[in-house]
Amino acid sequence: MESDSRVDILPLRLNDYEKIVFFTGAGMSEESGIPTYRGKGGIWKQYNYKNYACQSAFEQNPEDVLDFHETRRRMAISCQPHSGHKVISRIERVHPTVSVITQNIDGMHQRSGSKNVIELHGSLWRVRCTCNGSREDFGETYKHRKCPDCGKWLRPDIIWFEDELNSHVYTRSTNIISDSDLFISIGTSAVVYPAAGLPLSAKMHGARCIEINIDYTEGSALYHDNFIGKAGEILPQLFPDAL
Ligand code: OAD
Repeated sequence: MESDSRVDILPLRLNDYEKIVFFTGAGMSEESGIPTYRGKGGIWKQYNYKNYACQSAFEQNPEDVLDFHETRRRMAISCQPHSGHKVISRIERVHPTVSVITQNIDGMHQRSGSKNVIELHGSLWRVRCTCNGSREDFGETYKHRKCPDCGKWLRPDIIWFEDELNSHVYTRSTNIISDSDLFISIGTSAVVYPAAGLPLSAKMHGARCIEINIDYTEGSALYHDNFIGKAGEILPQLFPDAL
């Protein structure tokens, strides 16, 4: 289906909602120039995740895995947040309870000014080691590839295929979602669990659920409203006062 951003959109009134969650996936960053994972031009079409995004690949060939993530870092650093990211960060400034729960690892929400961001799948900008836990590491290349303390390879602090989500991060997310009254999902294919189960949880707890995507997804049927179009075009129409 073609993207059609000319849908009729009745703006939402922020005051009608107490606790708002923006739940985002790779489609949120697409207009910034960062490719999504699936579909045309998707990262997993170009790279086999088994060689670059799982613990066994890292154990067998850490340098290739780190090279791959440096390529992704260079790409992300060269991109900028777009108007959709700005709508979200501005709403956070004027509304008391707004959370961004993102599957994205690119840090684009934070660069746009969002403060209350939960990264379900980790971050491109952190590394971790069994001896020291996780640490910030921002830049096109890694400051160190091996831990200065124990000498082991530093692992990108990202949830890869076959990894479990961080249980604290996941529990915090489900708590926030079960308390929300407006849940807006943006740019996710809704195929990767457990993240893909969160919209249903929002609905079961009574939130109004809205999906923004350039196409219908596996999860579309559960939403109260589906807006077919780009995040950077639909969000400013939904929240015209935020820009
Ligand atoms: P996907 O690549 O699976 O899906 C991207 C979604 O964004 C698709 O449904 C597109 O239709 C939609 N989309 C594309 N451009 C858009 C735009 N400009 N505006 C709105 N929607 C748009 O990405 P995710 O659902 O985020 O995991 O993928 C989930 C996880 O799978 C990722 O977090 C990643 C990946 O493997 C890890 O890295 C652990």
